[in-house]
Amino acid sequence: MSNHMPVNRALFDDVMVPNYAPSAVIPVRGQGSRVWDQQDREYIDFAGGIAVNCLGHCHPALVGALTEQANKIWHLSNVMTNEPALRLAKKLTDNTFADKVYFANSGAESNEAALKLARRWALDNYGAEKSQIIAFKQGFHGRTFFTVTVGGQAAYSDGFGPKPGDIVHAEYNNLDSVKALISDKTCAVVMEPLQGEGGIVTPTDEFAKGVRELCNEHNALLVFDEVQTGVGRLGELYAYMDLGVTPDILTTAKALGGGFPIGAMITTTDIAKHLKIGTHGSTYGGNPLACAVAEAAFDTVNTPEVLNGVKAKAQVYVDGLNAINEKYHVFSEIRGKGLLIGAVLNENYQGKAKDFLNAAMEEGVMTLVAGANIVRFAPSLVIPNEDIIEGLARFEKAVAKLAK
Ligand SMILES: Cc1ncc(COP(=O)(O)O)c(C=O)c1O
Repeated sequence: MSNHMPVNRALFDDVMVPNYAPSAVIPVRGQGSRVWDQQDREYIDFAGGIAVNCLGHCHPALVGALTEQANKIWHLSNVMTNEPALRLAKKLTDNTFADKVYFANSGAESNEAALKLARRWALDNYGAEKSQIIAFKQGFHGRTFFTVTVGGQAAYSDGFGPKPGDIVHAEYNNLDSVKALISDKTCAVVMEPLQGEGGIVTPTDEFAKGVRELCNEHNALLVFDEVQTGVGRLGELYAYMDLGVTPDILTTAKALGGGFPIGAMITTTDIAKHLKIGTHGSTYGGNPLACAVAEAAFDTVNTPEVLNGVKAKAQVYVDGLNAINEKYHVFSEIRGKGLLIGAVLNENYQGKAKDFLNAAMEEGVMTLVAGANIVRFAPSLVIPNEDIIEGLARFEKAVAKLAK
């Protein structure tokens, strides 16, 4: 193949399966919270690869860990363990409620492991009857068939034939809707400790604690999907720490590798023992390159400076977005927690979140959406304040163009 062939957005339509609709912009390099495209146009990154690039682009600690490991050993499979995986697992268990770690390559795979473990735990302890999984409407847990069925949007799981069974959906922040479904046949309740894709919805304390109590009453496991909220995003290492509710199983991915694909399911010794030898596995899970980068990301994020910085930077965003709104009156609410922020469009701009994202891109700032009515921000946890202010100034220009 020629090195001179045009590599552009049109080529995507020629050679890629059409399940995505990527932007016309093709970024080629990044540094911190700035990204440059093929034409060397610069953007400020408020998207973070969908809450993944927790330390921005090309953070020296991550580049250092990756290149160092690249010169040692790349891959072994789980026929052998490796030093980076063991070190990372030790750090995850030392810093959380968990005693045991299973490594995967993505959020969906981490959740897949959690769901299979919950089912197997229930089968071993209580028998085949206890298989019900309660999840939440608008929840999102990944795109494997099991996780998409547990996710709370049938549109994502319909059309692929018979779905995994015994999965029901309650309403987030509505404890009565959980009470109406839960019984001794429930094996697990699966929830995000802040719904991300579903619209940046924070659980009330009463709801989170109530779900924990219901799980206790019915001997059901509480599974927290912290794929989006974990690794400092909300200002604590994991969101459960601030909620005061400890899950039985927790999944983490996205920011865990700071941009290198990795996920993990963590749990207690007592629950973990049900994934006996041969019950589950992955060729790449715990890959040394991934674990070396994740260890560096974990060490860098898990410091008071970075975690307190998240809270301070969040305030800069909220103040900036409120100031924009005072001028242009486009949002009904700025919500979220830490650096997972949703600007909710008011009744005059329903369904227009993508227009705001596109206009922002034209002004040189990358944002996200969460559904049709929310512009979402999930920047680097160490984004410099100057970049937040400059990015918000660019975002304001986009808002000014769209405001009626
Ligand atoms: C809460 C949550 N769980 C799971 C996933 C799926 O992760 P992945 O795309 O890495 O499979 C996502 C992705 O957006 C997520 O936000």
